[in-house]
Formats: sequence, C-alpha cells, structure tokens
Amino acid sequence: MPGLGVNIDHVATIRQARQTVEPDPVWAAALAELGGADGITIHLREDRRHIIDRDVRLLKETVQVKLNLEMAAEEEIIGIALETLPDQCTLVPEKRQEITTEGGLDVLGQEDRIATACRKLQDAGMEVSLFVDPVAEQIAAAAALGADAVELHTGAYADAVSEEDTDREFAALVAAAESTREAGLVLHMGHGLTYRNVSRIAAIPGICEFNIGHSIIARAVLVGLERAVREMKALVG
Ligand code: PXP
Repeated sequence: MPGLGVNIDHVATIRQARQTVEPDPVWAAALAELGGADGITIHLREDRRHIIDRDVRLLKETVQVKLNLEMAAEEEIIGIALETLPDQCTLVPEKRQEITTEGGLDVLGQEDRIATACRKLQDAGMEVSLFVDPVAEQIAAAAALGADAVELHTGAYADAVSEEDTDREFAALVAAAESTREAGLVLHMGHGLTYRNVSRIAAIPGICEFNIGHSIIARAVLVGLERAVREMKALVG
C-alpha cells in the first residue's frame, strides 16, 4: 500500500497572506497525522512564500511520521536541511516567478550539481528523492548518480483535458514507473493529484509514496467552513 504524504504548504500560504501566526502548519501537520497521513511534506522555497525556517525546525520536533522536505539544490537550503535533518529531501527545480513547481528536475543537464547535493544529504543520513518528469533518461540519470527514489511528476496527467491527452500522459507514467522499478529506485508520485484523478494512478503497481497538497487543503477549507461560521456566529450573536 502506498503511503500518503500530505503537503501542508498552503496552510502556510494562508498564514503568510496576513503575515500572522494562523493557521499554523504545525497544527495542520498534527491534524493530518490524526487523519492517517504517513508523511508530512513541506517545501522551503528560497523566497519563503509559505513555509518559513521556523516551521521546518518545529515540524522536525513534532512530526511523528516521515518528514519530507522539498527543496532546490541550493547551498543555503542544503545547509538548513543538514541542520534540521528531515527524514527525506526531495530535490525540485525552483523558479522565482512560478506559481508552483512547473516541471521536473533536469537531472541529465546538471548531473554533477545534483550528485553533490545528493551525497551531502545522504551522508547526513537523509534519503534523497528527485522530482522528475516521467522520462526514462531522467530516471536512469537519477539512478546513476545514486538517488534513493524518484517522484514522478504527475502534473501533465493532472492538467490534461481531453481523454486522448490524459491517456497519453497516463501511459507515460506507467512506463516511467516501470523504468523506476527496473532501476531499483523507490517510486513516488505527486503534483496536481486530486480526489477525481488519483485512483487511476493509485492502481499503478509499486508506488511507495504519494505527495498531495493543494487538493487536500482546498477540500479542508470547504468541509470546515460551515462549522467555522457557526462558531463565529455563536460569538457575535
Ligand atoms: N510533489 C512535489 C515535488 C511538489 O513540488 C508539490 C507541490 O509543492 C507536490 C508534490 C504537491 O502538489 P499539489 O499541491 O499539486 O498536490
């Protein structure tokens, strides 16, 4: 059975929108654990637009399941990972202007840089996963440089509109999942997965971990809103 890593970045996004203290991702992580999350995933971006350094430190203390830090292979962030020691680091590409992570890591185009980051993190006892597009050459490069796992980017599948495009992107993920298993890498999946599109992916054999964020947080806002309004109405009325 694959594990579910819950990405709580967008809880922090709401907090940062007001530069205040709520909602606290530390509370969100505890509730996600109560709901059965097998992991908590956070992305410490260079611009700190959602998760901030204090969250990483506190979550390392409080999270009892696997803590997965998504990060760019940049010196500053590698330093923070080496100080806080999450269980796993997922290396992702990062562009300042992007709304969310856009494409997979180009492992082939920067093998030395990724291999160096990978080794530093692994030497400190962390597992390293590389977030890649479902492309055989990228997976082979990840295996060659000694990554522990790859997370296959499911965004193109999730964003496909026509049945034809969806089927093509799904087939790419099935083939890439097979390449990952054959390369001896642990298989993760994530990005853009929702309550509607995840079941088809979950049927692919050999997946160890899903990382899902936006759809879960979006649903949480709506399923919790009615109660939140009732509670405020009781106070004002
Ligand atoms: N996996 C990776 C590597 C990501 O960068 C993200 C987004 O932060 C996710 C999974 C979660 O994506 P989503 O929020 O679309 O579920």
